[in-house]
Amino acid sequence: MRKPLMAGNWKMYKTPAETHDFFEAFKPLIADAAHCDIVICPPFPDLHAAIKEAKGSNVAIGAQNLYWGKEGAVTGEVSGHMLQAIKCEYVIIAHSERRQYFGETEPDVVRKAQAALEYALRPIVCIGERLEERESGRTEDVLREQFEGGIAPLTPENFAKIVIAYEPVWAIGTGKTATPAIAADAHGFIRRQVSARFGEDAARAVRILYGGSVKPDNVKNLMTEEEIDGALVGGASLDPKSFASIVKF
Ligand code: PGA
Repeated sequence: MRKPLMAGNWKMYKTPAETHDFFEAFKPLIADAAHCDIVICPPFPDLHAAIKEAKGSNVAIGAQNLYWGKEGAVTGEVSGHMLQAIKCEYVIIAHSERRQYFGETEPDVVRKAQAALEYALRPIVCIGERLEERESGRTEDVLREQFEGGIAPLTPENFAKIVIAYEPVWAIGTGKTATPAIAADAHGFIRRQVSARFGEDAARAVRILYGGSVKPDNVKNLMTEEEIDGALVGGASLDPKSFASIVKF
């Protein structure tokens, strides 16, 4: 009942010209893929080119971050209002690299998710534990804290519009994918938190993506888990053929 969502996070890669080349090769490869939603999240300077290239296709475009507030004296930031104006449809919030390098916290997640929804952007909210947290048996505590602080404060109406991405930090860019069973376990735990806060229907409906070294050769196994509703893909989304084979899992 949950439609899978395959999202590519390009991080700090590609110029507008490279964005054009990507879409030229990618669009024909996934033109008949109707079984899942497809989203590409390029860096800000490529958004305009990506939106132009994706127009009329089955690919939606997302940003990798936003600032709350409509406009103001906030040097270096981009607002939901601006992203909506260029027809961006999604936005990644609290990716672990934002948490780790830019100090994003749970209250930021709430402010950013609310700002995104105010401008009709769909937030993809990332949560996940670090290696030392997993090794010390704290995975569920961390996921609970991130859920309680960043997601639980949303209204039920707002919650219904978000996508959650479970991204264990130790699996991002490391080539170490969580096994399907480990990922499904964490997804089940997150879904139980959703159920306790927003009710069973909301828990059944919310899409929870897995992210962390998803590749063409492991996506199929991950997607056989009922708990896994799609993927947030970094490195393997940069190449059109590789991301197309992930989309088609
Ligand atoms: P990766 O990145 O696929 O390169 O591990 C995933 C992510 O950070 O979203």
